[in-house]
Amino acid sequence: MWNIEEFTEAAGITVGELAAYVAGSQRGEAPVLRRTPPRELAERLGLRDLIAKGGLTPGTYRDFLRTFLEEGTRLHHPGFLAHQTASPDFPAALADFVHGATNNPMAVYEMGAAAATVEFEVLRWMLGKVGFAAGGGVLTHGGSLANLTALLAARARAVPDAWDDGVPGDLVILAPPAAHYSIARAVSILGLGQRSLIPLETDGLGRIDPARLPDISGKRVMALVASACATGTGLHDDLRAIGAWCSERGVWFHVDAAHGASALLSDRHAHLLDGVELADSVIWDAHKMLRTSSLAAAVLVRREADLDAAFKQEASYLFYGDQGFDLINRTVECTKAELGLKIFLNLAWRGERGLGEYVAGRYDTARRFWELARDRPGFTVPYEPESNIVCFRHGDGDQAAIRERLMRDGSFHLSSTELGGVRHLRITVMSPATDDRTLTSLLDEIEAL
Ligand SMILES: Cc1ncc(COP(=O)(O)O)c(C=O)c1O
Repeated sequence: MWNIEEFTEAAGITVGELAAYVAGSQRGEAPVLRRTPPRELAERLGLRDLIAKGGLTPGTYRDFLRTFLEEGTRLHHPGFLAHQTASPDFPAALADFVHGATNNPMAVYEMGAAAATVEFEVLRWMLGKVGFAAGGGVLTHGGSLANLTALLAARARAVPDAWDDGVPGDLVILAPPAAHYSIARAVSILGLGQRSLIPLETDGLGRIDPARLPDISGKRVMALVASACATGTGLHDDLRAIGAWCSERGVWFHVDAAHGASALLSDRHAHLLDGVELADSVIWDAHKMLRTSSLAAAVLVRREADLDAAFKQEASYLFYGDQGFDLINRTVECTKAELGLKIFLNLAWRGERGLGEYVAGRYDTARRFWELARDRPGFTVPYEPESNIVCFRHGDGDQAAIRERLMRDGSFHLSSTELGGVRHLRITVMSPATDDRTLTSLLDEIEAL
C-alpha cells in the first residue's frame, strides 16, 4: 500500500524541484541542454546501484531529481528552438500526475468513465474546430499512430475486405516528398509497400502544386495526403484546391495537421487551414502547439462510421458492447493513457482564447526572426514563414557545424533540415520565454561564430 505521508512528502519535493527548474529555465539561467556521455551520466545519477538495491528515500530522491532535471533538455528555456515538442503548461503536467496516480486506461468506458467522457468532449471540441459536424474521433499516443489510424480508415473505405484479404496490388497513396516520414511508414505497415507511395509534384519549397496533380489511370488511389504544415518548412499546402480535386474524383483526402491545426484557435491564422473541412480525415497533435506534454494526438474523420470501420477485432475479455464511449475499436493501442485530461485542463485553465494567443504569439515571434535575419548581411532566409518554423542559412559554410557549436555552448538548441538538397538551420519557436532579445542574441552569436 502507499505510505500516504511518504507520498505527500515526495510529491512536495517534486513540486518544489520542478518549480525551481521551470523558473530557472524560463529565465534562461542554465544551459538549454547538456550532453553528458551516457556512462558518465548513469554514474552521476547512481542508476545501477538504485536499480539493483532500491532504497530511495525522500531525501535521496530530491538529489536524484535535481541532477536528472539539470542533465535534461529545457523546453521552457528561451533558447530552446529545436523541435516541435511542446513547452508544456502546468495544467497538462497536473493531468500527467493525476494519470500516474489513478491509471485509468480508458480504452473501455468501465475502466475510467470520467477520463473517457473528458476525451469524448475534447474530441467533440476538436471536431467542431475542423468543421466536422457529423464526425468522429479518437486520441492516440502521437501523430505517427494518428496518421496510421487515419490511413487505415481510408483503406477500409477503398477496399473494405482488405482487413481479411490483404491489399490489392493496384492500390496507391499520393503524398508530397515533404510529408512527415510517418506517412511513408504507414504505407508499408498497411501492406502497400513503398512503391505504392506516389510523390506529388511540388513547388520549389516542397508545397503540393495543385495544378499538377496526377492523372493516375490503372491504379486505385486510396488517399491523398497534404500537410498543414510541413514539418521541415512550416509551410501549408493549398487545402481548398487539393480538397476540391479529391472530392471531384472521390479520393480520400487526409490532412496531416499535426503541427498546424492549433492555428485554428487564432483568428489571424485560421485562414492557413482554409479548406480543412473538405478533408475526410485530419490529425492534430496537442503535444505540439496546445502545450500538452507528449503524447496526445487526435484522429478526426468527417464521417464517424469511417473510423469505426478502420479496425475489425474480437477480444472476448474486453468487448462487451459499447457501455458509454468505448474507443478501443478505433485505436492501435489497447491500454491508453488519460490523454484527454491534459488537453482539457489546458483548455479549462487558459481557455480556447488563451491557447490561441499562445499560438499567435509564437507565430509572430518566428516572423520577427525572419525580419531580423532578412535584414542582416550574411543571412539568407528562403521564404516568408507561415508558422513558428523558420529555415535560414548564414554564409556558405557548414551549417551543421554552427548548430553543433551553439549546442556545445548550451546557449541555443536549434535543428537543421535540407531544402532543395541544401542544409539549412531551422528554428521552431515553442517556448513562451523566447522573445526579440533572444532572437537578436541568436543572430549575434551565429555572426560571432
Ligand atoms: C506534420 C507531422 N506529422 C506527424 C508527426 C509525427 O508526430 P509524433 O511525433 O507525435 O508521432 C510530426 C512530428 O513532428 C509532424 O511534424
